[in-house]
Amino acid sequence: MAHEHEPQGRLDELMREPYPRYARAQAAEGLVHVPELDAWLVARDADVREVLLRTEEFSSVNALRPDVMPSPAALAVLGGGFGGGPVVVVSDGERHQRLRAPLLRALSPARVAAAVPYARERAAALVDAFAKDGRAELMAAYAVRLPGEVIGRVVGLDPADVPLVVHGGYRAEELLFRPLPEDEQIAAAEDVVAMQHVLDRCARDRYTHPRADLATEIVASVAEPGHGQLSLAQRHEAVAHLQNLLIAGHLTTTALIGTTVLHLLSHRDQWELLCARPDLIPAAVEEAARYDTALQGFRRVTTCPVSLAGTELPAEAELFVAFGAANRDASRHPRPDAFDITREAPARHLAFGFGAHACVGAQLAREQLRITLEELTRRLPDLRLAEGRPVTMRPTMIHRSPEELHLTWAAS
Ligand code: HEM
Repeated sequence: MAHEHEPQGRLDELMREPYPRYARAQAAEGLVHVPELDAWLVARDADVREVLLRTEEFSSVNALRPDVMPSPAALAVLGGGFGGGPVVVVSDGERHQRLRAPLLRALSPARVAAAVPYARERAAALVDAFAKDGRAELMAAYAVRLPGEVIGRVVGLDPADVPLVVHGGYRAEELLFRPLPEDEQIAAAEDVVAMQHVLDRCARDRYTHPRADLATEIVASVAEPGHGQLSLAQRHEAVAHLQNLLIAGHLTTTALIGTTVLHLLSHRDQWELLCARPDLIPAAVEEAARYDTALQGFRRVTTCPVSLAGTELPAEAELFVAFGAANRDASRHPRPDAFDITREAPARHLAFGFGAHACVGAQLAREQLRITLEELTRRLPDLRLAEGRPVTMRPTMIHRSPEELHLTWAAS
């Protein structure tokens, strides 16, 4: 386990402020082993790209390796749920291609474009709910809500089920990545199982009543239509797939909404420029995604002895492939630690990954960011960070975001 021999505090510290460690790793010769992560840190842009391209030597099977093993009692609760089937993010080779295909179909540019009016309508309604108050905690009032509602729509969930599913996603992440006391682990496992039952209901319904949504694509990829009902094994597979997709889709987007607004407001001149020049919104989204990457990194494991950046690694060596570090690499991004939405000819960043596992939901995420900034700059141009409410980042590498984001503005 990542922190079996290291105090949790040191791991939390690294997760809350990883950039100094990245800078040291970039300056070092070869790769640096980071005990808190129990992995070799891949921090340079060129090295990250190389790992992502050499998929046969750097396997994804451990991409999302949990930091914490749930207790036997929590595992027993999870045993009453669904899942355990293969999922795209931790698969390699042909199986990976097979699992990825339905997602590419369901998240095609046309399908994403079809979801934009709904995203716009929901974003406006969420802002309507607090615009007159003069203050809001943006994470709870908006950032957690929009991505869940949008991915729920794309998947084909009943909107009434979205809060339970979003909550289940956070609880799954907590259970596998945070050290919780036993009773909390059991409660988290129960929430995860509740989410899985909703997803199972949705999968079974789409098998008999297909629609133009992602759940239908996933169900069709695990079972030939027209065989009465899904088998239990097919239900497990469909739920695993849906759960993975949902969590990948909303935690990260929520995080990026939070950090984007945080950094724009912390750099007041850039916020004011954006309000005056909304044509810069797409550039602001890319710069925010680069500057404080939501998915800081995923893992890979070597399948054979390999050499990387001059370091010889044995088979089964664990790597932490840090997209967030690569995005601060000066050899790729001049002035990497400056947040600047007016960068000329910005280099392609790795916030959405690269190569075979590159994010399938990047366009959906970008649309939500764009809509969010359009709403906020147009309707609340004098938005500011609330005084006396210092921002702390969540201790996580997979959805880096402010814990809370208190904002104020002159209420109309
Ligand atoms: C700001 C939001 C997002 C960020 C920063 C992000 C980032 C990433 C990154 C870095 C990867 C590559 C992982 C790897 O190489 O192991 C990835 C993969 C993935 N993302 Fe996203 N993502 C976001 C939003 C979404 C959304 C909205 C969806 C779904 C609608 C989604 C679904 C996925 C899936 C299914 C994969 C795995 C693809 C594969 O293994 O082939 N993501 N994402």
